[in-house]
Amino acid sequence: MSDTGKNMKPGIIAGRILLLLAVTIVFTLSPSIAATGNVENGGKLYAKKCWWCHGKEGEADGPAADFMIPPPRDFSEGVYKFKTADPKAEIVRDEDLFRAIKHGMPGSAMPSWGEIFKDPEIWDLVAFIKSLTDMFEDMDNPAEISYAGKIPSSAESIEKGRKAFEAAKCFECHGQAGKGNTIKKLKEDSGAKLWPRNLTKPWTFRSDYTPEAIFARVSNGIPSTPMPSFAGEKTEKGKLSLEDRWHVVNYVMSLKDDSSKTKDGDIVVRGIQMVELPKDENDPAWDKASATAFFLVPQIIEKDRFFTPTNNLVKVRALFNDSEVAFLVEWDDRTKSVPGDDAAAAIAWGDLTPDALAIETPVVLPTASEKPYFGHGDASHPVSMMYWNSGSVESPNGTMLLTTTGTGNREKSDATAAGFSATGSYKDGTWRVMMKRKLTANADTDTSFETGRYIPIAFANWDGSNGEVGSKHTLTSWYWLLLKPETGNAVVVLPGLAFLLLVGGQLLFAGFLSKGRQSNKS
Ligand code: HEC
Ligand code: HEC
Repeated sequence: MSDTGKNMKPGIIAGRILLLLAVTIVFTLSPSIAATGNVENGGKLYAKKCWWCHGKEGEADGPAADFMIPPPRDFSEGVYKFKTADPKAEIVRDEDLFRAIKHGMPGSAMPSWGEIFKDPEIWDLVAFIKSLTDMFEDMDNPAEISYAGKIPSSAESIEKGRKAFEAAKCFECHGQAGKGNTIKKLKEDSGAKLWPRNLTKPWTFRSDYTPEAIFARVSNGIPSTPMPSFAGEKTEKGKLSLEDRWHVVNYVMSLKDDSSKTKDGDIVVRGIQMVELPKDENDPAWDKASATAFFLVPQIIEKDRFFTPTNNLVKVRALFNDSEVAFLVEWDDRTKSVPGDDAAAAIAWGDLTPDALAIETPVVLPTASEKPYFGHGDASHPVSMMYWNSGSVESPNGTMLLTTTGTGNREKSDATAAGFSATGSYKDGTWRVMMKRKLTANADTDTSFETGRYIPIAFANWDGSNGEVGSKHTLTSWYWLLLKPETGNAVVVLPGLAFLLLVGGQLLFAGFLSKGRQSNKS
């Protein structure tokens, strides 16, 4: 059957035009009528796309549900997290469900459906999921929260917001600098493990990063989680006045840190030459080197796969001189996991193991015809691994230099001969770890760092409060290190084909990651 107008009777065409007009009017004039979608059609779409996470009856028990933190929403409860209704309303607005479905929820497994479903279909889905609970029965769509009293951002307002952030104890969960470094162990009402948002990375927010969205969050709290509603009067304990809520919004908006964002196509750590290398990870000399940020993804290739990471990014700098190379790796980690620390053990999920970092480089630098490296290398492509962990309270900073030839095959190398050392410190939700070693290896199981040459480099990271140990961890793809000599007529050597292969792979991978960001970054 043709669906074009050509073969249709004029009556049918007129009927369709009328229908189209009616639909358009309904959608433009009255969003609340538009929201009364078709439950039956919504059910059909749900059975195609939603059930494998949210479950056949919407009870969050689909076959994929077990692999997710946070778990999918249980629609039979009728409780939703991101609510823009008036704080007095018990239910969310239809528009909140519509937004979550259309745009998805970054940092969780909830995909965005805006490219798959048309808006009317999304309203049908809204109607269907509302029908899975009696919470919405005989309830009108509630009014939107009032945004009256909005205060434009200014240094003064941000400062007042910082004070309100203290007064309301936002820092107990979100950390003094907003990086989500909680001092409390948090759970969803369902019992699922829950980490607070890192407010310096708004691209990991589940909902919108606008003053209005954050105002709604602060006013309504995040239902089904321990984040409470702060709407109230100054005099009420744990509440913020309307004015202070707007100041705190401006403060949260000001916390965004673009330096911890990956930049498209930036796949090289550029080492700078200096006479004297920094003495430790907090040495101001590190400011001379520019940082490159790389995404961490969960390790899902080798056995003991891992789907629920917390850390999502490393920032890397390198400096070198005639004899040594030094790396500074920084990452936001909500927990300082040092075994022996009772406060850390109290908020850990599972046994508390050390936080850890590894830097990997190939033992033999690739030549033109060589394939890219993956994982821990193999028998003919050994990888050298500089490893640091937080040790324990009694003995901080565990270090090892290893050579790996594939999964599980690793041997200790002579760290002293390589002049290898590593130290780390944790402040306000961020680890800074410096690793240093000689440029030239003594053994043929170790990497010699040639200057003026692109050297493959990769990173692995463990969050010891999140059950990350052994092959359960996050890692980056392979990137590049370039130690660029400052003087002389140095020529930068590209390893030809290998370089192109890697860069090509990298770009594909980056594409995958930017989609994966939806599901992996929290
Ligand atoms: C791959 C798994 C997956 C699929 C498929 C999926 N969801 Fe979700 N969904 C989730 C997860 C996980 C959450 C919870 C995210 C959170 O709590 O941060 C969620 C949350 C939601 C929410 C809650 C929003 C809120 O504010 O609380 C709605 C509504 C929703 N999903 C609707 C749908 C609909 C409709 C479909 C099908 C078109 C769908 N989901 C398909 C994983 C999925
Ligand atoms: C008791 C702990 C707790 C307190 C106190 C708390 N939060 Fe949260 N907050 C959380 C948790 C947990 C999440 C993540 C919830 C989730 O993803 O399900 C969160 C998420 C957020 C988000 C992210 C919203 C999004 O779209 O992803 C913002 C913004 C936020 N909080 C701001 C604040 C501000 C401002 C305060 C103080 C006025 C505050 N929070 C107090 C625990 C808390």
